[in-house]
Amino acid sequence: MTSVAVVTGANQGLGLALVRGLARRLGEEGVVYLTARDRGRGEAAVRLLEGEGLRVRLHLLDVRDEASVEALAETVRTEHGGVDVLISNAAARITPDRPQSEQVREFVDTNNHGTYRMIRAFTPLLNDGARFVVVASSFGSLTNLPTGLHPRFDERSVSPEEIEAAMDEYAALVEAGQAKIKGWPDWINIPSKVAQVAAVRVLARQLGEEAGKRDVLVAAACPGLVDTEASRPWFASMAGALSPDEAAVDVLWLACAPAGSREGHGELVQHRRVLPYRF
Ligand SMILES: NC(=O)c1ccc[n+]([C@@H]2O[C@H](COP(=O)([O-])OP(=O)(O)OC[C@H]3O[C@@H](n4cnc5c(N)ncnc54)[C@H](OP(=O)(O)O)[C@@H]3O)[C@@H](O)[C@H]2O)c1
Repeated sequence: MTSVAVVTGANQGLGLALVRGLARRLGEEGVVYLTARDRGRGEAAVRLLEGEGLRVRLHLLDVRDEASVEALAETVRTEHGGVDVLISNAAARITPDRPQSEQVREFVDTNNHGTYRMIRAFTPLLNDGARFVVVASSFGSLTNLPTGLHPRFDERSVSPEEIEAAMDEYAALVEAGQAKIKGWPDWINIPSKVAQVAAVRVLARQLGEEAGKRDVLVAAACPGLVDTEASRPWFASMAGALSPDEAAVDVLWLACAPAGSREGHGELVQHRRVLPYRF
């Protein structure tokens, strides 16, 4: 049977390496969608992989655009009936040379609302045995937030919409220069990654026992520090970082977990180990 895989934000960085790994792994039997928001950058990435003897399909996708997410879901639905491996990896960058108050809206709209758009559109398309991985980060553990904020990201009691609303509230506070006084971290990647992991945990809660019966696994993954254009401006040296291809190995271990694997379901996983979400 043909396996269908989709990776978001896949024209460069970790996403491109994930597509490369999937195309190698699934071979001729698989269909791997390399999605990109820019046609030129997407086509260049496809050409690069074709030069390596790999076959992938390009589909345009801007996760900030609901219609674009729906269009990809419609393609997958009509052409394949569902998806087997879905990796939500797309992310906006933060640059150190501009205030975070100028960057927070796009960041939240891409990394949080974009992830949630993917969850909404693709959860109904998960085939039996599907693996759905959201690339987050070890910053996504609730332990990185002050305890007063924990209820906002407690998957046992919040709805997905409440998580997204909390992130809009946070973005407004950052824009107003009020985040720190209101008890939020001023580094926007921390609440954003916690909210991504919370969204995955809520999805696992909503799928309930059905996930186990249908062997559907949903998880968040931290790839570790990866040497990409996104991380480079923040470090004097990338000597300790993994290359995108190296970092992809453990993310793909999760995304291609064999039938019956439940390890990591509803959890944040880094280098094949579950990271605690709360104390
Ligand atoms: N690098 C690290 O050390 C590290 C560590 C922990 C977690 N992560 C996570 O790993 C993931 C990949 O990071 P990376 O370092 O590979 O980042 P990256 O090199 O900046 O790649 C991000 C990808 O997302 C795409 N993208 C941005 N906005 C988008 C949108 N609106 N719709 C669709 N695609 C969009 C980018 O496309 P364009 O080329 O068009 O901009 C690019 O292909 C992220 O979720 C990141 O948070 C990275």
